[in-house]
Amino acid sequence: MSRDQQSFVPGEISSAWNPLQVSVYADYLALLSAKNPVVVVEDILALDGELLLARTALIDQKNIAYLKNKTLARPLAHSIHIERLISADDLLQHLLDTIRSTEYFQSLAERKHPLSSLTPVCAMLSNLPLVQQFITVMAAQMNDLYQRTLCVSLWSLYIAQEMRLPAHDSGEIFWAAITHDVGILHLDPQILNKTDELTADDWQYVQSHVDISTKILLDIPGLSPAIITAVSEHHERCDGTGYPLAKVESELSIPGQILAVADAIVGIYFNRFKAQGRRWREVIPVLEMNRAAYLYRSCDIVTTMILRSELPLPNLVSGSGVPEFAERMLQQNFHLQNWFSQLRDCLISVGYTHGDRKLHALQNVVLHIATTFKGSMLFKEDLRESLESMASEESISISEVVADASLVQQEMAFHLQRLSRMMQMYISSGEGKDPKITKRLEEGFAKISGLIK
Ligand SMILES: [Fe+2]
Repeated sequence: MSRDQQSFVPGEISSAWNPLQVSVYADYLALLSAKNPVVVVEDILALDGELLLARTALIDQKNIAYLKNKTLARPLAHSIHIERLISADDLLQHLLDTIRSTEYFQSLAERKHPLSSLTPVCAMLSNLPLVQQFITVMAAQMNDLYQRTLCVSLWSLYIAQEMRLPAHDSGEIFWAAITHDVGILHLDPQILNKTDELTADDWQYVQSHVDISTKILLDIPGLSPAIITAVSEHHERCDGTGYPLAKVESELSIPGQILAVADAIVGIYFNRFKAQGRRWREVIPVLEMNRAAYLYRSCDIVTTMILRSELPLPNLVSGSGVPEFAERMLQQNFHLQNWFSQLRDCLISVGYTHGDRKLHALQNVVLHIATTFKGSMLFKEDLRESLESMASEESISISEVVADASLVQQEMAFHLQRLSRMMQMYISSGEGKDPKITKRLEEGFAKISGLIK
């Protein structure tokens, strides 16, 4: 660990993950080794000094099976070398491919962000062999995660540049983005790829990737405290609803907040929009609804950047599908109002004097949803009247107001799902300070659970 890194205090790192034990990352190395040899470059010793694998041994499935359940003297990643690593030039090429294959990035690069600005940023990879190793494994074994990482890195760099941060700071934010999810390479793919709803325990397990990334990066010489702090904060939110430490805006770094907004919009696009054929342009109403969670300036910048690209909003529905669309939207509107009212009543009824930070965060979320949606057109009679007439009069097109309202409505459903899940996790974690309050929340939540969909 470098002297700089010793000054980094990550707060409480709670995950049970141990860098000296062989994890699923070793399985990825063994799989990669079949196409791109992975070789031991220094003797791998057990904690008690026993020789486990000698220098020049090949990392394959048999050798990895032998290392399982042993505690190593050093993390495995430090003792191996991959024959063909992703180089700085390769990384640059991958970023250019991402830009060229994404109409949105292409438009941005043409207008404001010259491709040449990427070359000096990527050059740093030559000084970071462990990062080279991690992204080589990620690109080969979890390519979807690698593609997302490239998108997050471009967004982070562009936001930092639009904020006119010094080139050095923008570069640090880019490297935080490249490395922020390396912890995922150590998580069980069976849980990551689960198609059923994740349980509260599963969510906690998935969330541990932040602590794992932080622990791994603390061991890499050449990464500054600013980079590691940003990585440790990439799932924190300004309104205290993030993890792992539920920090609030005043406790968060600017690089961490830029990375958080970049990671969030890429997550929204890949997890919710891409498969439905929806486009980057639709991220704007989602971001508007989430303003309290992110640094205001970065939200404004993202919105301006997307609008500047002049990509159109898609046509949600037209022709004979309109009446059915209006009917469905109307029913969802009533459902959301009912769901929201019950969640709000349940959370607010326990008062605010409990001194429980996590419960305050949940109450803040419900109040934020109330404020956000009070100002929107969602629960106004006008919208319902428009939808009723569209449903009954066999309209063949929808107005821009209804199209916008539809996006906001989908966003509200997402927020209510997220809040319900957070509440469920809070109740089942047993972390509530006052058992009477937890019991009341539990009873209230039991009534709501039928509304969650
Ligand atoms: Fe993450």
